[in-house]
Amino acid sequence: MTKRTDWQIEPGQALNGEAVVPGDKSISHRAIMLASLAEGRSEIDGFLEGEDTRATAQIFAQLGVRIETPEARRRIVHGVGLHGLQAPTAELDCGNAGTGMRLLAGVLAAQRFSSVLCGDASLSKRPMQRIIDPLTEMGAQIASNGGRPPLRVTPAQSLAAIDYSPLVASAQVKSAVLLAGLYADGETIVREPQPTRDYSERMLHGFGWPVRIEPGRVSVSGGGRGTAMAVRVPSDFSSAAFPLVAGLVTPNSELHLRGIGIDARRTGLLAALRLMGAKLEVRPKSLGEADISVYYSSLQGADIPVDLVPDMIDEFPVLFVAAACAKGTTRVRGAAELRVKESDRIAVMATALRKMGVTLVEHPDGIDIVGGALDGAIVDSAGDHRCAMALTIAAGCAGSCSTITDCANVETSFPGFSALWGQLGCSIKESTNELS
Ligand code: S3P
Repeated sequence: MTKRTDWQIEPGQALNGEAVVPGDKSISHRAIMLASLAEGRSEIDGFLEGEDTRATAQIFAQLGVRIETPEARRRIVHGVGLHGLQAPTAELDCGNAGTGMRLLAGVLAAQRFSSVLCGDASLSKRPMQRIIDPLTEMGAQIASNGGRPPLRVTPAQSLAAIDYSPLVASAQVKSAVLLAGLYADGETIVREPQPTRDYSERMLHGFGWPVRIEPGRVSVSGGGRGTAMAVRVPSDFSSAAFPLVAGLVTPNSELHLRGIGIDARRTGLLAALRLMGAKLEVRPKSLGEADISVYYSSLQGADIPVDLVPDMIDEFPVLFVAAACAKGTTRVRGAAELRVKESDRIAVMATALRKMGVTLVEHPDGIDIVGGALDGAIVDSAGDHRCAMALTIAAGCAGSCSTITDCANVETSFPGFSALWGQLGCSIKESTNELS
């Protein structure tokens, strides 16, 4: 018997107050990985207590790394050094996390032991050839299920450095190659078609590995050493995006978000929303963080510049909701990657928004959405955390009650989402249904 978590939302409840959102997912994954490969005791503060990042921490524990949890959102990692990982005795379950699996493949490809990386139903459908190809070129031995998980990694003789130009703009591909490059003979170079989030290279630098960061190019020399350090994880902009858009589209709302990471490679949504006429204030603080306030706004449709796509790749489900609530048409192109995320995010959001009465046209690499009034409906998030949270916002603006099905995976990135929504003024009624 499978269980499914559904959410019921009554519309018309304004959202007001202060919102604190959980730690950054991308940084939390990398902090566990790099602290494990460094030498000494690293402290991670602000760690995301989500299922994805906890899965990564659990995997490093299976690989012999001692990781303590003195309190929630903190980890102390006793790094074992580049060659200190031990053979696991079971498969390594990445859960829902593409970042976990793809980056780990880079590390495991270089080990003297075999390992198997597996994941849930969604992750088992996601493309892995994009990392298998460059890692194989380096000498790695990775078998897959036709380019999809599980990944069976067997020891390579040795890894050789490569000069790699990925076809897709992907921080995960870049990071997998750089992590394998830590173990390779020579200098491994990655040249990106478009800039993507650069946490891996910046954190490698912070831990003391020999990494060179230049415009459009990052390289690492094999055989270096990392030294333990303290990592402070800011709140995740991709999680903040939900209260941010909710405040803009829900009548009579005003929300204040605290301590959000505002890295330029992550905040394309702010530029897109400004183009749509959003009233938002960003007040930078130290260390790449900002407080952000949003006020209910009358949004206008816009053509989203293709250049912004990598900088807002995780924010399209929620942007589609902003577009559905705006006047006029919003056009998105150059975003074919959305079709291979935790779900096909173009198809899932198009199906749900259409059910809510939205006029839209799907394209292979994007969508045209004509804003207007939303109807309440029963819509499916397809188990995709970001679609579930985005649809919660749409439901709050609809003309009648809505049900969103398959919402349990919100726990992968945003534990406490429904509690936060309740605090801000919109209660989510959760039900668990048994499916035969
Ligand atoms: C991530 C990179 C992005 C993003 C994902 C997290 C990362 O994926 O969608 O949620 O932490 O490197 P791609 O690199 O596949 O675009």
